[in-house]
Amino acid sequence: MGTRIAIFGAGAIGCWVGGRLAAGGAEITLIGRTRVMDEVRGGLRVTQLAGPDADVTVTATTEVAAAAAAELVIVTVKSAQTAEAGAQLARVLPPGAVVVSLQNGVRNADVLRGALPDRRVLAGMVPWNVVRRAAGAYHRASQGTLMIEDDPAGLALVHACTAAGLAIEPRRDMPAVQWGKLVMNLNNAINALSGLPLATELSQRGFRRCLAAAQREALGSLAAANIAVARLTAIPPRLMPSLLTLPDALFTRLARRVIAIDPHARSSMWDDLEAKRPTEIDDLQGEIVALAARVGRAAPVNRALVALVRAAEAGGKRDYAGAELYAALGLGPAVT
Ligand SMILES: NC(=O)c1ccc[n+]([C@@H]2O[C@H](COP(=O)([O-])OP(=O)(O)OC[C@H]3O[C@@H](n4cnc5c(N)ncnc54)[C@H](OP(=O)(O)O)[C@@H]3O)[C@@H](O)[C@H]2O)c1
Repeated sequence: MGTRIAIFGAGAIGCWVGGRLAAGGAEITLIGRTRVMDEVRGGLRVTQLAGPDADVTVTATTEVAAAAAAELVIVTVKSAQTAEAGAQLARVLPPGAVVVSLQNGVRNADVLRGALPDRRVLAGMVPWNVVRRAAGAYHRASQGTLMIEDDPAGLALVHACTAAGLAIEPRRDMPAVQWGKLVMNLNNAINALSGLPLATELSQRGFRRCLAAAQREALGSLAAANIAVARLTAIPPRLMPSLLTLPDALFTRLARRVIAIDPHARSSMWDDLEAKRPTEIDDLQGEIVALAARVGRAAPVNRALVALVRAAEAGGKRDYAGAELYAALGLGPAVT
């Protein structure tokens, strides 16, 4: 019998991870909304850019009580729902239960720790994108290595991932890993405001200049706060802004060597705007604005991105051209 794993808040990430782990022999229970669970109950298809595909059977339920019997609970709700997820899990998880946050942002594991005293909560980091292709079908659209806090309590997940052919690395520097991911995720807002697939957006220098400006601002505040930022790709974070501003042809050639991405993939923030859900902007750009304030620096580019995403959440513009977004961020006339 495989490891019993429950995934709470199964959407794009939860269904793909659950499906992949089930393919490796884990006994998976997905806990989520009725509309998602109804789609996966009859069978879950998980595909990927490179690597085996799988059709698997999982248990799918809307009942949080199903998490009580799991050896490991993975949380994959969006950041705004973490506190509520923690409160629901607190009612059913026994003392000593192991919970892993596979969420973006730098606070979710702490929010879960606050809600789940006497349980062991570990931070994780998902480097790749997942898109829902059809009912019950999820596709991993880019690659990378999952990371999890280095702790004996995480071994069950490490073993389940290894059995499923899913690269995972225990890390002793999870805060730096999470900040490194956050700096990369500053593109989520730019992608969502572009209305374009990630590969198309990143192929255009106008958008990359916006991202470079947001990253420079973030890296400046992180350095001022003495916060380490882990390198998660072949390119060190401090060199990324300069790389991003290279001309299109040169950037595209270099980027192809660093990261492969499905031409249809988009950011989960685009998904949220499309579904008229609140985005995670407070946990991404908002985190940089707050950090900048703490260290006495300004963060006008990230602040402007928060405002534009808020406007988009309220039905505003989300089909910016690169040059137009550059100007809207107060960066001056656009250079293409
Ligand atoms: N998608 C990606 O490619 C990607 C990549 C890397 C990291 N991430 C991160 O991974 C996390 C999950 O993202 P995602 O894209 O998988 O989100 P998602 O598709 O929105 O999935 C989360 C699911 O949890 C459900 N949910 C929320 N609260 C719940 C509750 N109390 N009980 C049951 N279900 C609940 C949501 O339903 P409602 O919508 O009805 O609330 C939604 O169906 C985020 O932090 C995201 O930033 C995502």
